[in-house]
Amino acid sequence: MEEKRRTYYITTPIYYPSGNMTIGHTYTTVAADTMARFRKMQGYDTYFLTGTDEHGQKIEKKAAEAGVTEIEYVDKIVAATKDLWKLMNIEYDDFIRTTEERHMKIVQKIFRQFYEQGDIYKASYEGMYCTPCESFWTPTQLVEKDGIKVCPDCGRPCQPMQEESYFFRMSKYQDWLIDYIETHPDFIQPAKRANEMLTNFLRPGLQDLCVSRTSVKWGIPVDFDDKHTVYVWIDALSNYITALGYGTEHDELFRKYWPADVHLVGKEIVRFHTIYWPIMLHALGLPLPKQVFGHGWLLFGADRMSKSKGNVVYPEPIVARYGVDPLRYYLMREMPFGADGNYTNESFLTRMNADLANDLGNLVSRTVAMIEKYFAGKVPAWTDAVDPEIDKPLQEHCAALPALVEEQMDKLQFPQALAEIWKVIGECNKYIDVTQPWVLGKDPEKQDRLANVMRTLAECVRFAAVLIGPFMPSTPERIFSQLGIEDPALKTWDSLKAFGTIPAGTTVHKGEALFPRIDVNKELEALSADDGKKAEKEAAKAEKKAEKAAEKQEKKSGHEEPEYPAEIAIDDFFKCKIQVARVLECVKVEKSSKLLKFRLGLGKDGERTVVSGIQKWYEPETLVGTQVAVITNLKPAKLAGIESQGMILSALDDSGNLRLVTVGEGVEDGAIIG
Ligand code: MSP
Repeated sequence: MEEKRRTYYITTPIYYPSGNMTIGHTYTTVAADTMARFRKMQGYDTYFLTGTDEHGQKIEKKAAEAGVTEIEYVDKIVAATKDLWKLMNIEYDDFIRTTEERHMKIVQKIFRQFYEQGDIYKASYEGMYCTPCESFWTPTQLVEKDGIKVCPDCGRPCQPMQEESYFFRMSKYQDWLIDYIETHPDFIQPAKRANEMLTNFLRPGLQDLCVSRTSVKWGIPVDFDDKHTVYVWIDALSNYITALGYGTEHDELFRKYWPADVHLVGKEIVRFHTIYWPIMLHALGLPLPKQVFGHGWLLFGADRMSKSKGNVVYPEPIVARYGVDPLRYYLMREMPFGADGNYTNESFLTRMNADLANDLGNLVSRTVAMIEKYFAGKVPAWTDAVDPEIDKPLQEHCAALPALVEEQMDKLQFPQALAEIWKVIGECNKYIDVTQPWVLGKDPEKQDRLANVMRTLAECVRFAAVLIGPFMPSTPERIFSQLGIEDPALKTWDSLKAFGTIPAGTTVHKGEALFPRIDVNKELEALSADDGKKAEKEAAKAEKKAEKAAEKQEKKSGHEEPEYPAEIAIDDFFKCKIQVARVLECVKVEKSSKLLKFRLGLGKDGERTVVSGIQKWYEPETLVGTQVAVITNLKPAKLAGIESQGMILSALDDSGNLRLVTVGEGVEDGAIIG
């Protein structure tokens, strides 16, 4: 019987086609593509889905502004999106559009089922509405800016709005979901995001979710109540199953691939994917995706790149100048997958030179050139002239490399997987320095020794070429052609089970440099023709300043252990006024990737502003409403130009993540801790 191949189903979010896709959207899509290619290489039967989320008021507005119909508007952007994915060498299996019949029909069916089984009910909705974000907010969720209440996501003003809507009874499933998350530690990754969901949303109690609108015409009609269209999340999230034919007669793909192995999403939509989506699936009687991975943001300066903020980097000009693979490499290498990171032209160009031109490029060109020079271009056979102390560590490390890479890829740790490959590349370059082939080459008696050195190098290069394939799909062939490897069986994951299998006599061909060295300063100048560059420099400067301030504050806040006196008098302790405060507002400090600015309520003691370097650990909006512990009689200090009137207390957990100190229920704002 033929063995059934293991399946692997991976998705990206479906993107809003309200404007062209940026390097941010490209980041998620490249990550998903890299993972899909890696699993495919390993022999999995993979399915990779991406697409576009095309309904809603924002698209209605954009189309009206452009003087075209909604579908004309999105068609154009979808075409450009598909072109971009082609340019980026993205190999998706399907591209779902929420305006397609196959999606809309099933969403209607799902909506009706929810209604019929009592999960959805009709009521009137009142709240503050942010049109650009298409989000309703409760008054406590809004933040204050320049004296007006604004959207906590985008910082723009909200309008009061009342509407008859259908609601999903999320609260009914809350306890089930808490239990599920607690008993499935791999479900939400990175793990700190699971804590955020439990602490900030689930344990305080879920609110029912508004799932239809009467004021939005550009949406999927509710088929039993045609005043209403399905609102955002039921429409959007269902894509992951409608694309597989769920609910139709042709649901073979669904039966084969569901549940998904991983939904890759940006951290801002983890909540929807780990609360609403699981509840919807559970209500449909379906299994949950095995994992939702919330990655960090690609920042530009200190801000999230976003179309609505207008500070965007697009991939096309970078690719036109430097090619696709360097950009794919950079995106997967530069920032830890799960944390935020900055895009800068400088770090991109520096990596191109250091990792690609120097480390990898030089290794390939030196290996090929030396085989040409010393062995007339033919890969030599193994000989007895082994130096176990020098050859063995490299050969063994290289043979172990596939497993090391796999271990990181299983955790979606792309940068670490690349780092493992580059460790071997670095070791090869050192091996050349140590074995000194140019010295061996001068001595005819050392030919046998030289043969082993060259073969070891050629084989390590072959391993590296196979393993970088998922990250940089067009580079392996360029390396294989220089190595003279034609046999497809030597280019596979399985071929890495054995080290040293390139047939002796294989003819190498010196070719063009894989990645020519570039003059970083010259390129920076060329790129700074873009206006964006200037803004980037200023932002970087401002960020450095803010970071320094934050570091200082972090040190002061005790996470770098100060020297404590062995004992203090009780009076010393009572010098600190520590109070319970409620977070009334919390926003990121502009141009800082570390600082958050809090407006804290101390009950009858009024309010105060505190700046704290904890941006890395908390989404500001998720803290609004929580109670924290604050030293309130600390001498005020200026951080990033803002006067901070106190210090919020926190502790590091066992994974080194910062956790705010909080108090149990029923403690009044302003209460003294002591
Ligand atoms: N349509 C919703 C998602 C529905 S999924 C059922 C949406 N669309 S979006 O166009 O705003 O895309 C958001 C996603 O794009 C993020 O979650 C992330 O995957 C990616 N990114 C867009 N800009 C990004 C950065 N600057 N940095 C990292 N990822 C970014 O939300």
